[in-house]
Amino acid sequence: MTSNLWQTIKTLPQKPLVEIFDSDKNRMDRFGLEHADIYFDLSKTHLDDAAIRAFSELADEVGLAKKREALLAGEPVNISEGRAAEHCAERGTGDAASVENARALHQRMKSLIEVIEAGALGDFTQIIHLGIGGSALGPKLLHQALRVGDEKYELAVVSNIDGAALEPVLERFDADKTLLVVASKTFTTAETLLNAQSVLDWMQEEGVTDPQGRVVALTANPEQAVQWGVDETRILPFSETVGGRYSLWSSIGFAVALALGYEVFDDLLAGAQAMDQHFQAAPWDQNIPVLAAFADQYYAQVRKCETRAVFAYDERLGLLPDYLQQLEMESNGKSVTLDGTLLSMPSSPIVWGGVGTDAQHAVFQLLHQGTHLVPVEFLAVVEPGDSLHPAHHNGLLLNCFAQSAALMAGKKSDDSDRNYPGDRPSMTILLDDLDARSLGALLAFYEHRTFVNAVLLNINPFDQFGVELGKQMANKLAADDGSRLDVSTELLKKRAFGA
Ligand code: F6P
Repeated sequence: MTSNLWQTIKTLPQKPLVEIFDSDKNRMDRFGLEHADIYFDLSKTHLDDAAIRAFSELADEVGLAKKREALLAGEPVNISEGRAAEHCAERGTGDAASVENARALHQRMKSLIEVIEAGALGDFTQIIHLGIGGSALGPKLLHQALRVGDEKYELAVVSNIDGAALEPVLERFDADKTLLVVASKTFTTAETLLNAQSVLDWMQEEGVTDPQGRVVALTANPEQAVQWGVDETRILPFSETVGGRYSLWSSIGFAVALALGYEVFDDLLAGAQAMDQHFQAAPWDQNIPVLAAFADQYYAQVRKCETRAVFAYDERLGLLPDYLQQLEMESNGKSVTLDGTLLSMPSSPIVWGGVGTDAQHAVFQLLHQGTHLVPVEFLAVVEPGDSLHPAHHNGLLLNCFAQSAALMAGKKSDDSDRNYPGDRPSMTILLDDLDARSLGALLAFYEHRTFVNAVLLNINPFDQFGVELGKQMANKLAADDGSRLDVSTELLKKRAFGA
């Protein structure tokens, strides 16, 4: 933490939220922001004008504008891997050649959807999408959030190597009606390839004549997919510069585009582009992802919050905390700066969460009265996702709003067990409606916020070397080459597999 501005930020007066509101009657004008039919209420955070000014100066000092420009121009911002991070080009914002390339690849994806729709590859009504991490979380989230229930295709997304994840799908599905989609940026991921092989075996056992003829591969490594046996005409490539956890905008979205309709995918991209444009143009004090990152840094560095909790008050967004865990923790869970020196401040908070109102009856005790200060993020949608009595949706929204008010206001009592300290911060994100456009904008908001956090921390959010060691150890443990790991691990292995 070298900049003097961090010291300024740390020594700003720490007024309680209720006081901040009392002393600033126009707070909602500046901290209630709207874009792409989403209302972002940052007013219940401790950010005030002085904090915004100091963070804005810090943003200037660390060169946020230049770094944003470099990201969007397709410069090699992922320096440890020597490449660009071009997820925005997938939705039309970025280097012209990359945008053109993404468009051409989307067109190829659309054409394959048309071929499948015409029945040229078989008579499919079921899709198994295999992938893990970024090759599964995005598609799964999109499908759960946007499906209406009467779609022609039933889609199952399977990620885990645990056979208990795949087996029930194979029991339920009809091999003859199943299209297999294998999603892997590298096309080398053990879990995905084993699951894919098991689905092919199942098809074979069920009497399908040409199982490989029913495979579509989504990858940035088409040569590897060809080697694995997929015909080139059924490989949908995407650019190496699109990171795994940023890849749902690429051909990784294929199964969702097929299941929900290509226009849904197009709308998703348009929504994301609307957020890209806002991120690109808005001044810091009105830039929603930037302000959210200022709040993140305030809580991480000044208030020493180690976690952030996200609660979706909408069942359709129930997978959002999982998706954000990968996006934020795999991006910013780092200990070294861009210069290779040790980071002297906390990096990504631990992101956790769940759905409201369920979580209220499980974990909110700690949020209201626990010793940890946890900034909370509430998400809700004005239009209901169900057609039951309005009491359901009204109750859902009212609970959401009441929780943020209760966290902030607290309630004093002489009985210490019944005392609510209050002054607990939250942000509320209220979507007018949950559709492909608003979801695209929401996810792009999170991507940009993650990027701004990385810039403020001076770290690279686009690599993930931390995941490699465990994979290498698993291979070493699997290899019967006489090499040994530690005694504890070897004994565990022996107990499970015998000598
Ligand atoms: O192990 C982590 C990771 O590399 C993620 O970054 C990625 O999203 C996931 O594995 C899947 O990788 P792939 O798409 O190459 O199969």
